[in-house]
Amino acid sequence: MTSSRPPLSIVAAIAAAPVLLLAGFAWAGGWIGPPRIGGATIVDALERSGGRYAGYRRAHAKGICITGRFDASGAATGLSRARLLARGSYPVIGRLSTGGGDPFATDGRNVFHAMALQLTGPDREIWRMAMDHTPIFPVATPEAFVALQRASRPVPATGKPDPAAMKAYLARHPETKAYQDYIAAAPLPDSFANGTYYSINAFRLIDRAGASHAVRWAFEPEAAPGALDKAKFAELPTDHLFTDIGARLAKGPLRWRMTVTVAAPGDATNDATILWPANRQRVEAGTLTITAAQPEENGACRDITFDPTILPDGVALSDDPLLPARSAAYSSSFRRRALETPGPSAVGKTLAAKEER
Ligand code: HEM
Repeated sequence: MTSSRPPLSIVAAIAAAPVLLLAGFAWAGGWIGPPRIGGATIVDALERSGGRYAGYRRAHAKGICITGRFDASGAATGLSRARLLARGSYPVIGRLSTGGGDPFATDGRNVFHAMALQLTGPDREIWRMAMDHTPIFPVATPEAFVALQRASRPVPATGKPDPAAMKAYLARHPETKAYQDYIAAAPLPDSFANGTYYSINAFRLIDRAGASHAVRWAFEPEAAPGALDKAKFAELPTDHLFTDIGARLAKGPLRWRMTVTVAAPGDATNDATILWPANRQRVEAGTLTITAAQPEENGACRDITFDPTILPDGVALSDDPLLPARSAAYSSSFRRRALETPGPSAVGKTLAAKEER
C-alpha cells in the first residue's frame, strides 16, 4: 500500500519557509545578528566629540565651496567604462574644508585638510568624492570610528579628552598608531592649493568587459609645496587657509592631477589604515581645474552631501566597511543640518569683509 502523505522533508521545508522569512526581516531590520552602527549613532558621537553647531556639517564643518572642471585624459578607460573617465571636460562643484565639527575653529591645527568633489558627466551622471590630505585613516571599521570619537570627547574639567580613555582606546586599536605617527611627522600643507587629496578608501573600477580592478586615487597639486610651522599655530590668522585660497584664485585657476593607483593581488581593500606599497601601477586619469570659490552660505556646495558611495557606472564600492558607514553618517548629518538655520560661517564673514574693502 502506498501513502498519499507528502514526504517529511517537504513538510519540514514548508514549515521552515515562514520562519526563514521572518528571520530575514529581523536581520534586515537589525533585530538579530551583530549590532550594526547606524548614521545617527555615528553623528551623535561626532557631536559629542567635536561640538554641535546648528546648520553646519557634523564633520569638516569649516569649509568653502569651489567650482571648476575635470578634464579626463582618457588614460583610465582601460580600467573603467565610466564615461567621466573618457576623454572630455566635465563640470565640477566642490568644497574645501578642515576637519572637526567647529565651523569657527582656527586653521592653526594639525587636522585633516580636505577636498570634496562632485563631477557631472553625460546624462547628468554624478560622481561624488570626499578626500583628506592623508593617505591613510585612523580607523578601519565604523565601530572603531565611534570608539575613537567617544575616547576623544572633551571632559568638562579640562576641555580636553581624558588621557585614560584614549590610552584604553589605543590599547584596543593598535591600528590607529600608523595614522598618529603619519600626522605627527608629515608636513601640514600651508595652502589648500598644495595639498594632495586621497580617496583613502579603496574602490573598484569596472572595465568594458565587466572585469573589476581595485584602486585608490589621489589629486596631486600643481602648486609648489609649502608647510605650516606646527610650532607657530598660535600666530596663524584664524582663517589663513581660506583667505589664502581666495587670494590664489584671484590670480588664476588652480590645478591637480588625478592619479589612480591599481592594487596588486593581496593588497588590503578593506582596511583604510594600511598603505599600499609605493611601486603599484599608476594611471593619470585627468586634471582638475578650480576657477572660483564662494562662501558656503550662498555657494553651490551648500546642499550637497559629498557621500562617497554616489558613483557612476564603471566605478563601484570595495569591501571597505567604512564606505557604507560614511554614506549613513553623511546623510544623517545632512538631515540634521537641513532642519536647522545656519548663521554665516566664519569663512563667509571673512570673505565678505574682504570684498567690502
Ligand atoms: C567611518 C568613517 C567616516 C565617517 C563616519 C565620516 C563622517 C563624516 C560626516 C558625518 C561628514 C559630514 C557630512 C555632511 O554633512 O555633508 C563628513 C564629511 C567629510 N568627510 Fe568623512 N567620515 C568618515 C571617513 C572619511 C574618510 C575616510 C575621508 C577621506 C577619504 C573623509 C572625508 C570627509 C570629507 C572631505 C568631508 C567633508 C565633505 C564636505 O566638504 O562636505 N571621511 N564625514
